[in-house]
Amino acid sequence: SNQNAIELKHVDKDFRSKQLIKDAVLDNDFLKNLDSTQIREIVDCMYEKAVKKGNFIIKEGEPGQHVYVAADGEFEVQKEDKVLGKMHTGRAFGELAILYNCTRTASVKAITDVKVWVLDRQMFQAIMMKTGLQRREEN
Ligand code: CMP
Repeated sequence: SNQNAIELKHVDKDFRSKQLIKDAVLDNDFLKNLDSTQIREIVDCMYEKAVKKGNFIIKEGEPGQHVYVAADGEFEVQKEDKVLGKMHTGRAFGELAILYNCTRTASVKAITDVKVWVLDRQMFQAIMMKTGLQRREEN
């Protein structure tokens, strides 16, 4: 049966990238309790994007469309123009607006040329739906 409107589209990636994404998810307090099937789908569905130095990946107050994992480079988290901290390779971010349907709680800026792994909101929700339904069918 297929009750999902969205098809889970897998993007090929090497072992090292898969491990980096998985470790980032498991290191994130809000994502680490997802089940292993869901985490594997997140790993398989993320796609890579390059962002140039100085650009914002996330802007505070906007609705959220994506979850990210820092793949390369340096990032700065800002709130009301104050710097909250820096982030490096291997951090998952942008999960709050997706999980809680709130607006972005902070801005995230590329302070070098960076690469990120990206997962679209609809894909994230389809992954949550799919494994939720599978679990229900098993009971
Ligand atoms: P979200 O609110 O979707 O978008 C901004 C992201 O920045 C947020 O999810 C978190 O992933 C991250 N973030 C928010 N506040 C902090 C903080 N104080 N330190 C580090 N990262 C943060």
